[in-house]
Amino acid sequence: MKTIRILISIAVANIVLVTGLAYFSAPANPPKSTDSQNTAQCIITISGIKYDVQPLRKSHSGGDIFVCDTDMTNIFFGQHDQSLLNRKMQKYRLP
Ligand code: HEM
Repeated sequence: MKTIRILISIAVANIVLVTGLAYFSAPANPPKSTDSQNTAQCIITISGIKYDVQPLRKSHSGGDIFVCDTDMTNIFFGQHDQSLLNRKMQKYRLP
């Protein structure tokens, strides 16, 4: 009987110890999950010039049709013209 009590005490002590360790070893401010789509670049080429269209992917009226790391010249001119490239695409242009 005494042995059983001792064993139960050890088991309870272990549970308390493990729970306590898990609680105190957890970071107080766990890092927020970051969406890699929001931070990574998405570089496309139009007429030999590179643009990082990552910010455009969410706002583009034509949807997220971008295929990163490809030449999208034909796709772009299938829908838009040089004037849109000259005006609205300049802010995405890479140096
Ligand atoms: C490399 C490909 C493309 C790029 C860089 C591009 C870029 C842009 C930009 C800068 C705008 C103006 C800002 C905005 O409204 O978000 C725009 C507008 C728009 N895009 Fe695209 N676009 C591309 C392909 C396409 C395609 C394939 C479609 C249709 C399937 C499309 C449909 C539209 C529409 C409907 C608008 C709004 C109306 C307009 O300004 O013509 N785009 N795009």
